[in-house]
Amino acid sequence: MSARLSGRTALVTGAAQGIGKAIAARLAADGANVIVSDVNADGAKAAAASIGSGAIAIAADISDAAAVSALFAEISERFGACDVVVNNASIVPFIAWDDVDLAHWQKIIDVNLTGTFLVSKAATDQMRAKGRAGRIVSIASNTFFAGTPNMAAYVAAKGGVIGLTRAMATELGKYGITANAITPGLIESDGVKDSPHNNAFDFVEMLQAVKGRGQPEHIADVVAFLASDDARWITGQTINVDAGMVRY
Ligand SMILES: NC(=O)c1ccc[n+]([C@@H]2O[C@H](COP(=O)([O-])OP(=O)(O)OC[C@H]3O[C@@H](n4cnc5c(N)ncnc54)[C@H](O)[C@@H]3O)[C@@H](O)[C@H]2O)c1
Repeated sequence: MSARLSGRTALVTGAAQGIGKAIAARLAADGANVIVSDVNADGAKAAAASIGSGAIAIAADISDAAAVSALFAEISERFGACDVVVNNASIVPFIAWDDVDLAHWQKIIDVNLTGTFLVSKAATDQMRAKGRAGRIVSIASNTFFAGTPNMAAYVAAKGGVIGLTRAMATELGKYGITANAITPGLIESDGVKDSPHNNAFDFVEMLQAVKGRGQPEHIADVVAFLASDDARWITGQTINVDAGMVRY
């Protein structure tokens, strides 16, 4: 590991567990001051403590505009602004199309798409006010390319995240802010291990070009690259990280 993010402040949402926690740990290992945020306040505290390296926890529900404002007010007070924001928090449902109703649709869109917008808007307003050339990295999903079953609202929300990423790249490039998305394949996260998605590994591995089970660190390594100066000439892109399951 290098200290390529030394002196930078990085916010990771949904970082109490799973991919978000691995991202937070990797950015801390690269020298960043990491803010571990999650709707699960106790989980965020435990994750920050286990990461160490000065990582702190700030709880927030990303779908709640007031909570996101309070999160960025605290960031302003403690750090001025973020240099890196990783939009990772999401609900990962497993629900048959026949059971998808408006309430489910609205809940997934509120967290997975509107929450990503709320955090990105507050973060980039603050970056611009403080003159930071920031990096926004949003975790989408390769289910957007595959149209994976039992996830209709999720697939639609992740497509929205990719669209938002492109729009933010266009609008914010003139301020030195980049916005990119990552589309993971199936990853053995805490959430997946506790869900019916856990039964899909053999099928997914059969489709992958490179064999094995996706791990949170496979995604964290690519986030660390996009957050670094090495990625300064990349914006508006979607990087597919799924061992070659989807080749496009
Ligand atoms: N695991 C996979 O196979 C996979 C594949 C593709 C994409 N992804 C994406 O990767 C990201 C992380 O997934 P994971 O598998 O680690 O999930 P996970 O369920 O293990 O963790 C998600 C975290 O987000 C938090 N969260 C949920 N709603 C929130 C809210 N409203 N506000 C703040 N925090 C909230 C949860 O408390 C949890 O700690 C998600 O964006 C997911 O869509 C995961």
